[in-house]
Amino acid sequence: MTAKKIFSGVQPTGNLHLGNYIGALKNFVELQNENNKCIFCVVDLHAVTVKQDPKLLKQNIRKTTSAFLACGINPKKSIIFNQSSVPAHSEGSWLLSCIARMGWLNRMTQFKEKAGSDKEKASVGLYIYPVLMAADILLYDATHVPVGDDQKQHLELARDISKKFNSDFNAPNFFQVPEPLIQKNFARVMSLKDGRKKMSKSDPSDLSRINLTDTEDQIITKIKKAKTDSDPFPRDLKSLNTRPEIENLIGIYCSLTKTKPENLFSDFNNKNFSYFKKKLAEVVNDKIFPISREIQKLNNDVEYIDKVLEQGSEKAYELSSKKIKQLKNKFGF
Ligand code: AMP
Ligand code: TRP
Repeated sequence: MTAKKIFSGVQPTGNLHLGNYIGALKNFVELQNENNKCIFCVVDLHAVTVKQDPKLLKQNIRKTTSAFLACGINPKKSIIFNQSSVPAHSEGSWLLSCIARMGWLNRMTQFKEKAGSDKEKASVGLYIYPVLMAADILLYDATHVPVGDDQKQHLELARDISKKFNSDFNAPNFFQVPEPLIQKNFARVMSLKDGRKKMSKSDPSDLSRINLTDTEDQIITKIKKAKTDSDPFPRDLKSLNTRPEIENLIGIYCSLTKTKPENLFSDFNNKNFSYFKKKLAEVVNDKIFPISREIQKLNNDVEYIDKVLEQGSEKAYELSSKKIKQLKNKFGF
């Protein structure tokens, strides 16, 4: 089997959480360990599409890098860098914005959600955010992009831009058409407080998410306080359709233990919910607490983190400047 070329990005906009881990980071590490060529980017240019405190942003770039490393991304095997340190991303984004069509961007649901009711006040950057994401991916000829379910539409846009460029410039293989890698069974981790909202860094309630930096006690408390209902533990998949919070907790358990929900129905049959929550807290702590400890350790070693980013940026610079030169050439520059 030929090695895949992997590219993915995470925004440095706050604490990474269990949704980022299950939807993205866990898969990054698996792909790396299957000997694929991986590039993982801290997408700081994407972060500034909404206002950021410059001091906090700098800290968050390092913290996101620490989280990558603590989850098992190895800088000797994979390239880890931050987007703003490699100019090809901004340059490529401009060129690709001349390929992308307004109609395509107008359909992006994430823009609609993030811009809210007053779209006139949203930044232009937020609107063209998916074009920058396409540049990230296409500049490195990535064949596969592991992301959570919420990024599916952005990836389709990257595929459309790639195909349109190849066709408009009569260059059939210039850009790779990237494939999304989205988990089939449990691709979206939901808020612990509302099973219809995704777990997110920006939710004002810290109880809605499990941060990768939470302590053992915080994890136990958050799972204990997670929203459930008064019905007993479900007996089959069908009954989960109307119980989004329960579906989410079972999804987390199954995803971290690599088991099927069907197995849980018999294991927890006739037990009360607090028993399941206790077991779930153990499972989450087994995976997340060692990561949390490692993040705290790495956060104190700023010099090491900066070195990882610097070395990663040099490699990314080399790869992307070749491609951007060819791209400019195609345009006639
Ligand atoms: P972000 O934090 O928005 O930069 O997302 C980084 C990665 O984590 C992307 O691949 C997202 O799709 C993924 N992700 C973010 N939130 C969730 C969630 N609640 N469930 C699953 N994946 C998620
Ligand atoms: N938009 C992605 C998110 O918010 C982050 C991202 C930026 C990304 N560039 C990327 C993901 C390239 C995959 C590939 O989650």
